[in-house]
Amino acid sequence: MDSVKVSIIYYSATGNVHALARAAVEGAEKAGAEVRLRKAAETAPQEAVNSRPEWAQHLKDTADIPRPSLDDLEWADVVLLGTPTRFGNPASQLRAFMETTGPLWFRGELAGKVYSAFTASNTAHGGQESTILALANTFYHWGGIIVPPGYTDPIQFKSGNPYGTSHVAGEGAPGDVALEAARHQARRAVEIAAALKAGRTA
Ligand SMILES: Cc1cc2nc3c(=O)[nH]c(=O)nc-3n(C[C@H](O)[C@H](O)[C@H](O)COP(=O)(O)O)c2cc1C
Repeated sequence: MDSVKVSIIYYSATGNVHALARAAVEGAEKAGAEVRLRKAAETAPQEAVNSRPEWAQHLKDTADIPRPSLDDLEWADVVLLGTPTRFGNPASQLRAFMETTGPLWFRGELAGKVYSAFTASNTAHGGQESTILALANTFYHWGGIIVPPGYTDPIQFKSGNPYGTSHVAGEGAPGDVALEAARHQARRAVEIAAALKAGRTA
């Protein structure tokens, strides 16, 4: 059987979600998957980006990460989406990419894949679950198989979010617990996708 293919598509302004995405790459690769990491294009005006030096710096530091394409979705068995919380919702930069997927959706190409999501917000009650659930609304439209981390590993009892890995950015960069939760989330998505793939090729 082919290895499981994972596209990790995210947006990050100041690096927190980027760190979670990198950890998800590690988890997926350790589970034997082939992984593509893709960062959604910046759509904010340059003046807005420049108004926060850490935003401008992160944009520069991640310039070499490819932009997502429709092929990244078509290719993947597993799609992991990551976004900062924006007023309790996904960032428009990620949504802008998601809203280019109409042709794939229409052909049914987005159905039957495994989907899962992760996020960061400034505060603990700043909308992490609502952001992940908002992404899940789209997974339903795509006919996706949503694989949340739940409490399927001891790390989940420390990280505490069964909907998807989430990090409180107001407390600093993601630490060991959030990074391990992101690895676990990706690993679990790969394991479920591998079982589906084996079943479909049997
Ligand atoms: C326009 C805007 C809206 C935001 N809305 C929220 C919010 O609703 N709740 C919250 O806790 N943080 C909010 N934040 C803070 C971001 O979620 C936080 O900076 C982000 O998670 C950091 O992730 P990043 O480093 O990957 O960009 C907002 C930030 C911006 C710029």
